[in-house]
Amino acid sequence: MKTVTARAHTNIALIKYWGKKDPELILPYTSSVSLTLADFYTDTTVHFEPQLKADQFTLDGISQPTGKISAFLDLVRQQAGLSASARVESHNHVPTAAGLASSASAFAALALAASRAAGLALSARDLSRLARRGSGSASRSIFGGLALWQRGDDDATSFATALPKPALPLAMIVVLVDAGPKPVGSRALMANTVATSPYYPAWVSTNEKAAQAMVAALAADDFATVGHLTEQSSMQMHATILAADPAFTYWQPETLTAWSLVRQLREQGVPAYATMDAGPNVKILTLAPYVAQIKAALAPTFGQRLLTTGPGPAARVLTEVPD
Ligand code: ADP
Ligand code: DP6
Ligand code: CO
Repeated sequence: MKTVTARAHTNIALIKYWGKKDPELILPYTSSVSLTLADFYTDTTVHFEPQLKADQFTLDGISQPTGKISAFLDLVRQQAGLSASARVESHNHVPTAAGLASSASAFAALALAASRAAGLALSARDLSRLARRGSGSASRSIFGGLALWQRGDDDATSFATALPKPALPLAMIVVLVDAGPKPVGSRALMANTVATSPYYPAWVSTNEKAAQAMVAALAADDFATVGHLTEQSSMQMHATILAADPAFTYWQPETLTAWSLVRQLREQGVPAYATMDAGPNVKILTLAPYVAQIKAALAPTFGQRLLTTGPGPAARVLTEVPD
């Protein structure tokens, strides 16, 4: 056995994933496209220990319930023909459950560390499929830069792949409206949106077309289209959530403040587009030469709550120590 530590970075969807066709296998209704981020990540260490009575899991040094982790480790144990329990230690370099994609970096890091610790050497595709089972967005964090998660039809065909590196100097500014945990979990709200929002079928057909259009716009280095599609996918996702029963939004007043500042900048000719996930925080997609100007425009309102990042690397093993 080995003790393996892996690092995976979070990713922010430009074209969103929102809704599961198969909640057990985590098969999505639509494809999605994301940017893996350089400055937000999770480090996870896994060691299978036959003498342990049950799996143990700590997050940032604090012991946690093991339900989701054990269900995920069962998939790894099944593939590896192992029965031993595991000790899992994880550290988030991203706020947990705040809509900044901690579940993406978390399950990508866990998929890599646990599969290696169990003696498996999975391909990037199989790692993406495995990570998907922990959290849909994690399928994309196996890859650096831009990733496309093709929705697929079943467990074998639903996985992410890396998209070609664009010539565009993509940058992202995170506006921290609230770094605390979200009031309503995205998994439950996603299911309720599918079940009750009358706009959901429209979301599926529009967003699937947008995913394919995004791949083409990225390949053409057409930032105006990339940005426009990014903002549209986010707004349409939030509109679908608002139309669910009960109606809901993750937005806070400052979410709208940030978005309107982005729109004003755009009217002045600055290429800046807003995208929001399952939380109130706003991420601004732009090009590196415009970062300073955008931050200057937002600083009077958001002060130090502006973080700048850019494309990050693929998930990777940091250390592998044999027993
Ligand atoms: P986020 O917007 O941060 O992705 P989610 O609700 O999708 O929020 O996921 C948050 C959940 O992901 C947490 O409640 C926890 O179950 C899981 N999670 C977050 N970080 C880790 C970690 N490092 N290791 C294991 N699970 C984690
Ligand atoms: C709004 O991947 O966190 O960030 O699959 O239930 O774990 P589960 O959900 P998760 O949902 C991400 C939703 C999103 C959009 C996206 O990342 O594509
Ligand atoms: Co998540």
